[in-house]
Amino acid sequence: MHIPVFLNQIIDSLDIQPNEKYIDCTLGEGGHALEILKKQGILLGLDLDKRSIDFCTNKFQENNISEDKYILEQANFKDIKKIALKNNFTQVKGIIADLGINTYLLEESNKGFTFKQDEVLDMRYGDTEILAKDIINELSEKDLADLFYLYGEEPLSRHIAKAIVDHRRKEKITTTFVLRDIILNTVFGSTSRKEKAITRIFQALRIKTNSELENLEILLQDSLSLLAENGVLAIISFHSLEDRIVKTKFKSLEKGFEILTKKPITCSKQEFMHNKKSRSAKLRIIKKVSWKK
Ligand SMILES: C[S@@+](CC[C@H](N)C(=O)[O-])C[C@H]1O[C@@H](n2cnc3c(N)ncnc32)[C@H](O)[C@@H]1O
Repeated sequence: MHIPVFLNQIIDSLDIQPNEKYIDCTLGEGGHALEILKKQGILLGLDLDKRSIDFCTNKFQENNISEDKYILEQANFKDIKKIALKNNFTQVKGIIADLGINTYLLEESNKGFTFKQDEVLDMRYGDTEILAKDIINELSEKDLADLFYLYGEEPLSRHIAKAIVDHRRKEKITTTFVLRDIILNTVFGSTSRKEKAITRIFQALRIKTNSELENLEILLQDSLSLLAENGVLAIISFHSLEDRIVKTKFKSLEKGFEILTKKPITCSKQEFMHNKKSRSAKLRIIKKVSWKK
């Protein structure tokens, strides 16, 4: 069963009021979105993944949510401003983005997000042109090393980049298992050290394939202008690179905003027991306040 991360904290901070407008930028399996609708908020929901839009449409119907209470669009949240204006979602009371990767994408999408299954290295949330295997096969050794270091924070980035380039001189790297094995054979030490390296390299590739950090910067910039007074923006991030961007952006907003989470909210022991995915999650919330205060 899908358990949304920080569901109570998100719903409390959004203070859902009937007939007020809310945007969920990352619908996923609709965990947060359904709760907004149950409290009679009006929802604009976005997701890059078409399957998520279909899944949520069914889920909302099964829960007897009236169709005039929500609009769902397959779209990138970097286009939030354009989509919100088109659908008359200005003066919004709450916006959320849950930047994690859902279980469906990891385990069932067949898109190479996990090194635990042998799949083509695709890693796209949507239908963009560049796949993860294009990046692995086409970047120079230096650019690969920089990618692994910056987006994966992997200390052995240069060794792994060299091993990848050596391998692809013989044959292209197109699957998760081939990439996994190259890293396994390059990193010495315990199984857990090797797994950490694989996880970091896969994370770096996923971030690059989907321009995740660039999209997040645009989302933060553009979503704030859509908020009504007392409206809140809540962002759940899952690694330090994302959290740093959110933290820096929130801190840079001097007038007209109040940071509601001086320190990010992290998961309690109890939440972790129920939902292992929440282990690395951090929630930061900011509220738009009157300039005159
Ligand atoms: C962790 S899931 C969201 C889970 C959701 N909050 C729930 O409770 O079911 C993240 C979702 O964000 C989507 N996503 C990732 N990047 C996106 C982007 N730039 N624009 C829109 N959706 C995106 C993914 O396709 C995925 O479905």
